[in-house]
Amino acid sequence: MADQNIMEKIVSLCKRRGFVYQSSEIYGGTGSVYDYGPLGTQLKNNLKSVWWQKFVIAREDIVGVDSAVIQNPKVWEASGHLASFTDPLVECRKCHNRFRYDHVEEIQKLKVKSQNNKSKFKIWFDSISPEQKSMLKCSKGGEHEFTEAMDFNLMFKTFIGPVEESSSVAYLRPETAQGIFINFQNILQSTRVKVPFGIAQIGKAFRNEITPGNFIFRTREFEQMEIEYFIKPNKEESEKSYQEWVELSEKFYTDLGIKKENLRIRPHEKEELSHYSIGTSDIEYKFPFGMSELGGIAQRTDFDLKQHERVSGKDLKYFDEETGRKYLPYVVEPSLGVDRAMLAFLVDAYDESDGSDGRAAGEVTLRLNPRIAPIKVAVFPLVKKDKLPEIAKEIYRKLQECGMSAYYDESGSVGRRYRRQDEIGTPLCVTVDFETLNDNKVTIRHRDTMKQVRVHKDAVWAYVEQRVLNPEKFFK
Ligand code: GAP
Repeated sequence: MADQNIMEKIVSLCKRRGFVYQSSEIYGGTGSVYDYGPLGTQLKNNLKSVWWQKFVIAREDIVGVDSAVIQNPKVWEASGHLASFTDPLVECRKCHNRFRYDHVEEIQKLKVKSQNNKSKFKIWFDSISPEQKSMLKCSKGGEHEFTEAMDFNLMFKTFIGPVEESSSVAYLRPETAQGIFINFQNILQSTRVKVPFGIAQIGKAFRNEITPGNFIFRTREFEQMEIEYFIKPNKEESEKSYQEWVELSEKFYTDLGIKKENLRIRPHEKEELSHYSIGTSDIEYKFPFGMSELGGIAQRTDFDLKQHERVSGKDLKYFDEETGRKYLPYVVEPSLGVDRAMLAFLVDAYDESDGSDGRAAGEVTLRLNPRIAPIKVAVFPLVKKDKLPEIAKEIYRKLQECGMSAYYDESGSVGRRYRRQDEIGTPLCVTVDFETLNDNKVTIRHRDTMKQVRVHKDAVWAYVEQRVLNPEKFFK
């Protein structure tokens, strides 16, 4: 199956089953902005809560913040975003479409590379996204005629208060990181953190991307999960912490089920580094449209705190009680996009049967790790009579009351109900049948192996909890 085909199937499944919808669809949509349906919301919440559990709740050295989306514009002057958060933009003089120049260059290089062989070229061309195709051909015919590249700032502008003038200009934050740096002193004063320590944040970020695309991979409104990890201010400490965070970040994905062979750690070339970084590695994932950035780890030194000290005029130094010295710590930043991670987890989990595993050819199983699966368990009565629905509903309600995301379904054959749950990644299905009336046992069927076991109806909660929530099973 061509990779682009997989992408189309995932987009279609997301819409059909309520993971992701085009935003404002009834009005024709908003460019590269998405809404999340019931299952997508649950999957995203699970991802965020597992990340928070792992990096904040389970660690003594990391605390959380939740800063505002609209911050004082001076924040962006200090961070360098006003001056440097730009992408090179080119416009075609014929069709007036605008593209990111580096994206056009990249896709043209790939085109030249695969052009020698006709069948190879076709496979490659079929695999690229519609956005990438539009970079190669002008909609008015022939080649694009591009203008010189010019810098385009990606921050969304707005105004604070009722008057739209330059003094009231504000920006929607393009990263969550700055909300951490501007609260550095507040956190030092209101908690007992000591270097090395981290501050974590999950929240929305906004970028007016020139060429968004590939579904929820690059959008204009998205969520980030970021940690600023503050360390002693020297390059050796920075390098050591950076290596640790690269490992921890990769492990976060693999512990949650992403196949290691689909990940790659790619250190940035010098000329690629952001204005604040002395060393960055991207963790890339093999998406159907090519190896692309999933998250990144950057050594930001004391760049941000220094800049905020300079622009705000406030002393942001940390007092080290051990040495009696005051300094601006260095920082290492692991950063991850929630929406992008969700796409990677969906792609990695998507499995279409070839008919050799006991399923019919073409049947889809979403092999999501149970920790992030939107529904943990579905409960079915075999038939809609003879007290089976009552027993099934009792089990279902008990699971819900205990905080388990459960689903009750009594329509269609049990086989069809299993398939509906497999397609959305539900790890376990519980069926109440006629035998239950005699032995009080139910059948629990496992999504991945299709193995079935009989369990006492009062032991269902414990059985499910052990298999879908037990953190020790997933974070070794
Ligand atoms: N604070 C550092 C920072 O923001 P970045 O590489 O620009 O670094 C971090 O962004 C992560 O945020 C990316 O690795 C990606 O997962 C996610 N991200 C960035 N831009 C995005 C976009 N337009 N749509 C979806 N996710 C995005």
